[in-house]
Amino acid sequence: MKKKLLSGIQPSGTIHIGNYFGAIKQFVDLQDNYDSFVFIADLHAITTIQNKEDLSKNILDVALDYLACGLDPEKVCLFKQSDLAEVTELAWYFNCITTMPYLERATAYKDAHMKTKEVNIGLFDYPILMAADILIQDADVVPVGADQKQHVEYARDTAQKFNKIYGETFKLPEPLILKNVAIVPGIDGRKMSKSYKNTIPLFGTDEEIKKAVMRIVTDSKGTDEPKDPDTCNIFALHKLFLKEDALKILHDKYTKGGLSYKESKEMLLLEILNLVKPMREKREMYAKDLDKVRNILKNGAKKAKTIALEKMNIIRDKVGVKI
Ligand code: TRP
Repeated sequence: MKKKLLSGIQPSGTIHIGNYFGAIKQFVDLQDNYDSFVFIADLHAITTIQNKEDLSKNILDVALDYLACGLDPEKVCLFKQSDLAEVTELAWYFNCITTMPYLERATAYKDAHMKTKEVNIGLFDYPILMAADILIQDADVVPVGADQKQHVEYARDTAQKFNKIYGETFKLPEPLILKNVAIVPGIDGRKMSKSYKNTIPLFGTDEEIKKAVMRIVTDSKGTDEPKDPDTCNIFALHKLFLKEDALKILHDKYTKGGLSYKESKEMLLLEILNLVKPMREKREMYAKDLDKVRNILKNGAKKAKTIALEKMNIIRDKVGVKI
């Protein structure tokens, strides 16, 4: 039997090629090997997005993005977190066995607290809602970026705590920190991130993608000069696209000299567009038929909810609210 995989994605606006290679592609690659559940973490998003139009637009956008990138609704149970109100109920039971000092140790909370003293309770409680997402589905593995590893540990701790108080109920999920998760550099060489404004959009127009690629920062070596592929921001991005042999040829061109940065950028642009074009078409197809997307989410929710309700039945009994 396949192991059960679960992961949530925050609906946080336009995605870029860093998101694709750093996370989305991995979900898509994993969907064949696991019994996969992927949901849009819209309840988590409310900790930061408190605007109706933005939130509902982002939810649909992220669904379109993932479908366009190859997530297959036939293989993956894709749903929206808020369709499973049971997770908020479970989070409450967890809240009652969780202490404040324990949550105060969460890195994400500490960072938020440094920036603003007025952290909302939803953000403070973020790891507990996430624990509920994971544990209510009896997930075996949770693929996450390294920054989310601590959250999976919170889910494990919480499962153990509950099991100790109420008896064996939850299995302990394993984080799946994908080994070759690419740290994708942005056009300025720092990690590609929306907050650094150094991204190459995944679903931008040809023009927008071109503009970002042409702005990739390089040193000022002329065409004939030998160049160092290992410190070149363009080369670092080529690595995501080119197979070993093609990359080796490019590597040689760099070290020999004769290839301008402009040419290297033009090659990269073609590589990006080759990847993006079919995905963009798929995205447009789904965007024209939003009811189809809503239906995919609805069917996913139905399946996930059946599992959640079964689990809640046991949990309510253990907690003592079922009389
Ligand atoms: N915290 C995750 C992120 O920001 C999103 C998330 C919410 C999640 N619930 C989850 C991920 C459960 C994995 C499992 O990326």
